[in-house]
Amino acid sequence: MRNVNKLIEEMTLEEKAGLCSGLDFWHTKPVERLGVPSIMMTDGPHGLRKQAETADHMGLNQSVPATCFPSGSCLACSFDPSLLKEVGRALGKECKAQGVSILLGPAANVKRSPLCGRNFEYYSEDPELSSELAAAYIEGVQSEGIGTSLKHYAANNMETRRMTMNEIIDERTLREIYLASFENAVKKSQPWTVMCAYNRINGDFCSENGHVLTDVLKKEWGHEGFVVSDWGAVNDRPSALAAGLELEMPYSGGENDKKIIEAVKSGKLPQSVLDGAVERILKIVFLAAENRDENAVCDYEENGRLARRAASECAVLLKNEDDILPLKKKGTVGVFGAFAKEPRYQGGGSSHINPVRVADPLESLRNMAGPETQVLYAQGYALDAKDGTFSNRPFQSNADTPDEKLIAEAVEIASKVDVAVIYAGLPESYESEGYDRKHLAIPAGQVRLITEVCAVQKNVVVVLSNGAPIEMPWLGGVKGVLECYLGGEAFGEAAADLLFGAVNPSGRLAETFPKRLCDNPSYLNFPGSSKEVEYREGIFVGYRYYDKKEMEPLFPFGFGLSYTDFEFTGMTADKTEMDDTEKLTVRVTVKNVGKTAGKEVVQLYVSDEESNVIRPLKELKGFAKLSLQPGEEKTAEFILDKRAFAYYDEKHHDWTVESGTFRIAAGKSSQELLLGQTVFVKSTASFRQQYDMNTTLEELLRDPNAAEMSKTLLKMLGEGMGISLEQDSGISEMFKASPLRQVVMFSQGRISEKKIREMLASMR
Ligand code: BGC
Repeated sequence: MRNVNKLIEEMTLEEKAGLCSGLDFWHTKPVERLGVPSIMMTDGPHGLRKQAETADHMGLNQSVPATCFPSGSCLACSFDPSLLKEVGRALGKECKAQGVSILLGPAANVKRSPLCGRNFEYYSEDPELSSELAAAYIEGVQSEGIGTSLKHYAANNMETRRMTMNEIIDERTLREIYLASFENAVKKSQPWTVMCAYNRINGDFCSENGHVLTDVLKKEWGHEGFVVSDWGAVNDRPSALAAGLELEMPYSGGENDKKIIEAVKSGKLPQSVLDGAVERILKIVFLAAENRDENAVCDYEENGRLARRAASECAVLLKNEDDILPLKKKGTVGVFGAFAKEPRYQGGGSSHINPVRVADPLESLRNMAGPETQVLYAQGYALDAKDGTFSNRPFQSNADTPDEKLIAEAVEIASKVDVAVIYAGLPESYESEGYDRKHLAIPAGQVRLITEVCAVQKNVVVVLSNGAPIEMPWLGGVKGVLECYLGGEAFGEAAADLLFGAVNPSGRLAETFPKRLCDNPSYLNFPGSSKEVEYREGIFVGYRYYDKKEMEPLFPFGFGLSYTDFEFTGMTADKTEMDDTEKLTVRVTVKNVGKTAGKEVVQLYVSDEESNVIRPLKELKGFAKLSLQPGEEKTAEFILDKRAFAYYDEKHHDWTVESGTFRIAAGKSSQELLLGQTVFVKSTASFRQQYDMNTTLEELLRDPNAAEMSKTLLKMLGEGMGISLEQDSGISEMFKASPLRQVVMFSQGRISEKKIREMLASMR
C-alpha cells in the first residue's frame, strides 16, 4: 500500500479537489504525475451493468453480458446469509474479470410501503434481516478483492420526487428502523463505500447530513471507507464535503471542484477536511488497484448454475391446497401467460442488466415434465396491454383491457387438462426505479385470465413474477401459488424445479403482503406532500404494525410453505436472568417429520413483556436456515446481546434496556410462534435511575432497583389512611400514578420530601 499521507503532502489543492469527483460516469480521476490510478465502479446490485459505450444511470444503454441473479427482494426470501455471500462472491468474480473495482450494491433500504418502485432491489421491511443479508452480500463480493457500495444511505424509501423529498423521521424510528437496516452491514462487513441517498432527512440532504454521514456512519459505526454520492445527489459541494461525503459521482463538469478550491482558499472549508476526504478515497483506490488482476477470468456457466439454485432457494410457496404441488410427471398440464415465454425476471432502472442467457420458463417446464406429460400452452394475455401500458392512478387500479381472444384460447385448453399453471405478475412498466406504484393490482387482463381459467378448471397453480407485494382477489379460486419475485435469468428453470419437486420450496416472505393497500401503516402518509413526507407510523413498519393492530394480512412476514413438515421440538436458553452486558445463548431444535428433504427457517422474535415506552409486540432478532433430511433433527443457535432487548432512547440518544421480563419466541413465521420462554434482563444504564420528585410510584415499581422503595412508600401511605395499598386494587392503581411530590402531600407529614430524596440518593 502506498504511503497515502506522503502522497497527500505532494498533491496540489486542485488535484485534491479533483479527486473528490468522478472522471466520467463510472471512473474516479487518476493523478498520473503521482501514480494514482483511476478505478471503475458500476451497478449493481443483482448483476454487473458495465457499460462499454454510452453511459447513463437509468439503465437505458446496453451493457456487457453478465449473470442476472435474483433481485434483492427475491434473494431476501432465502433468509440465508450464506447464499447471499455466495452470490456476492460470484458477482465479485465477474467484476474482477471485467476490470470493475466497485460494485454499486447492495441496496438495504427498508420497505416502508409496498408501493416503492424500487422495492425489488431492497431486502425487507425488517432491519435485522435486511442488514444481515446486506452484510453477507458485502462479505462475498469483497472476499474477491472487489469493493461494494452499500446504498441508498439513508431512508430512500420511495421514488416519488426522490431527488428533493424531505423525509421527516423521528430519531427513534430513524435509529430502530431506517439506520438499523444499514448498521450491521457496516459494522460487520466494512463496505469499501457507502452511497448516500438523494433525499433529505429532517431538512438536510443526505449528501449534507453530517449527523447521518459522520456522527453515525463514521464515528459511531466506524466506517473506514468513503462515502460516494448517488449519481447527482450533491446539492452544495463544500457543505457535502464538510458533512462527510468524500466522492461526488459522476463527473460534475469541474464546477463543484472549483467550489471546493474556493471554499478552502477562503477558509470556509478547513484544509484538513479536504485532506481527510482525499485520504479515505486514496486508501480505497489503492486497495482496489492492488486487487486488480488483468488475467482474471470468470466462469459464467458456473454463475448461471448458481443463479438457478439461488432462484429456487428464494421462491415462496404461498398456497398448496390438496398438495397440488409438486406436479405429477404424467397427464396433461396447461401452461398459460405471456410470462411463460417472455419471463419477467429483473427490475427497471439503473440495476437493469444484460443477462448472459435467459431461461425459457415454458421450455424448462417441458423438460422437467418429462415424456409422460403433455404440456399445452396459450398466451392468455398480451404483454403490451391495450389502451395504454397501465394505469398508475390511485383508485382506478387498472385500466388494461383484457384480450378476449387470448383468454378464450386459454380457457378452451384449461377445460381439458389435468392441471393449469398460470404465469402472472407485474410487467416491467408497473414497477421501476424513478416512480412508485399507486396500487397493488396486476394487469386486469391477467386477473381475468386467472378467474376464467378457475371457472373451468379446479386445479390451478399461479406462478408469480413481481418485485413487491400484489393483491390477489383470485386467491380463493386457485390451489397453488408460487411467489418467485424477480428470480433473475434462471427464473424459468427454478420455477420448473420447484413445480415438479426437484427442489423443495424454502423461501419465506421478507415482507408482509397486506390484504389491501390501505392496511399498510404508511398509507396515510405515502408519498406525502409535494416536498415532504412524514413517517407518522413511526417504528410500526411492516409486521410491527399488523401485529399490534391485530390486523390479518394476506400473508404474514416470514411465511412460506414446504413440501415436507417440520416440528419445533425444543428450545433452551442458557440463562433465566442476566444483565444487559451479558449475552444469552438460545438454541432451537427442529425436526423434519415429513418424507422429503427440505429447509426450515427458524425465526427468533423478542418481546418486552412490560414497558414504559411504546414498543412493537415482537421484533425479529435472529434467523437460521436449516437443511434437513427426512427424520433428521438439527439445532440452531442464536446469541442475543443488549441490542436484542434495547430500544433507542431519544432522551439520552442511546440504546437502552428497561429492566424486566422479555419473551423469546421461535417459530415458522411472525404469526406462527411455536416455542417460547422468558428471561429477566437487568438494565445497567445509570441514567435509568435518575429519578426526581415527578417520578411516579408506578415507574419505580417497574425498576427492580427502585421497586422496594416504591412498595415502602405505598405501605406508609396506606397505613396513614388505614387501608392496604400493597394489594392490587382500584385504589392502589390510583395511588401508583402519583408522583413522589404528591406522596409527600398525601402522607400528611408522615413522609417528608427530605426522606424521599434520601431514599433516591441511597438507591443510586
Ligand atoms: C441510482 C443508484 C445507481 C446510480 C448509478 C442512481 O440513479 O439511484 O442506485 O447506483 O444511479 O447508476
